[in-house]
Amino acid sequence: MTKQWQQVPNVTFKTRVRDESVSGDNPFRWQDVTTHDIFQNKRIVLFALPGAFTPTCTTSHLPGYEEHYDDFKALSIDEVICLSVNDAFVMFQWRKYLGVSKIFLLPDGNAEFTRKMGMLVDKSNLGFGMRSWRYSMVVQDEKIEEMFIEPGFTDNCPTDPFEISGADAMLAYLKSK
Ligand code: BEZ
Repeated sequence: MTKQWQQVPNVTFKTRVRDESVSGDNPFRWQDVTTHDIFQNKRIVLFALPGAFTPTCTTSHLPGYEEHYDDFKALSIDEVICLSVNDAFVMFQWRKYLGVSKIFLLPDGNAEFTRKMGMLVDKSNLGFGMRSWRYSMVVQDEKIEEMFIEPGFTDNCPTDPFEISGADAMLAYLKSK
């Protein structure tokens, strides 16, 4: 299932951004962000996980990348992105709950990016519907340089493998380059 040097899918994400010109006590507006906006002329680390607020994602996967964000920057990574098949409101609240300030949380609420990446799996066994399989990747100017896909890719997987898509493995890869 190697994706090496394939182009990342062309997708428009629906995000929410703070805008002080919006009146009221919720000064946010919708902002479309395209794959080109995110990846063009940049070196990006993206990791994808099955869901905001789920145990491993909350205690380990996302915090690990936040903790090592400065190490990624020192290795010439422009941005570190956490993607999940959740909507922008859920991703915003998860970021706030964890006190994450460095990682960009990207909502793939329509699962379009995940589906086009071939990473969409059925998690109906948990009442989750369709979600992302856990993986990480380095993307250089819109092309996938390397990808770490957790083993056992399958629908309704009874376990949640988390062995190779974490921050430590990604750091080891980048340092080896
Ligand atoms: C977890 O992060 O622990 C998790 C993710 C998806 C399903 C169940 C658990």
